[in-house]
Amino acid sequence: MSVATHRHLPVFKTRFSTRMIEERVRALGREVTTHYRRCEEPLIVVGILTGSFVFLADLVRHIHVPVQVEFMGASSYGNETTSSGDVSITRLRGFPGRWARTNATGRHVLVVEDILDTGRTLQEIQRLIEKEDPSSVEVCTLLNKHREDALAEAKWVGFRAPDEFLVGYGLDHAGQYRNLPSIGVIST
Ligand code: IMP
Ligand code: MG
Repeated sequence: MSVATHRHLPVFKTRFSTRMIEERVRALGREVTTHYRRCEEPLIVVGILTGSFVFLADLVRHIHVPVQVEFMGASSYGNETTSSGDVSITRLRGFPGRWARTNATGRHVLVVEDILDTGRTLQEIQRLIEKEDPSSVEVCTLLNKHREDALAEAKWVGFRAPDEFLVGYGLDHAGQYRNLPSIGVIST
């Protein structure tokens, strides 16, 4: 490979290692389990697509109460690294006007998010779920940028995120890097 080509290869710098993530996710699972241990009906765990799919898959395996897993599609970034401000939420195909197979009325709902930034995505999603009059709606996010003006908050947070654009473990930049097992930044 020529030197010129090599210079343009992106460099990945780890911020949260696989090991750190594993330990933290296990601890979050324990806390969530304790909180919902008296639930009478399965906890509805809603993953926000696409970023949360890796985190959710690991987290639910550390939640030891019955769960029902659902996904809701949301996107606010497009291909940019700053929020576009518009949140679009996709509905469940084949279930007109619905975001899940079952109604959340009287149920406990746990929203699982990869990263909380402006909180606009979560605010929209919480609004949608609240319409169904659930018993409770809580949020578990792997990362939180802890912005002072955030529009939503999370009950459970994995890590405080540095003020950088992170990729890996489900997080993408323009659709790429979700499969990296750790979380870090890409520099070119
Ligand atoms: P919010 O609506 O501004 O809170 O944005 C939340 C969504 O933006 C998350 O679900 C992520 O998909 C995306 N996002 C925010 N920050 C980052 C980042 O640093 N890396 C990758 N995606 C991010
Ligand atoms: Mg994203």
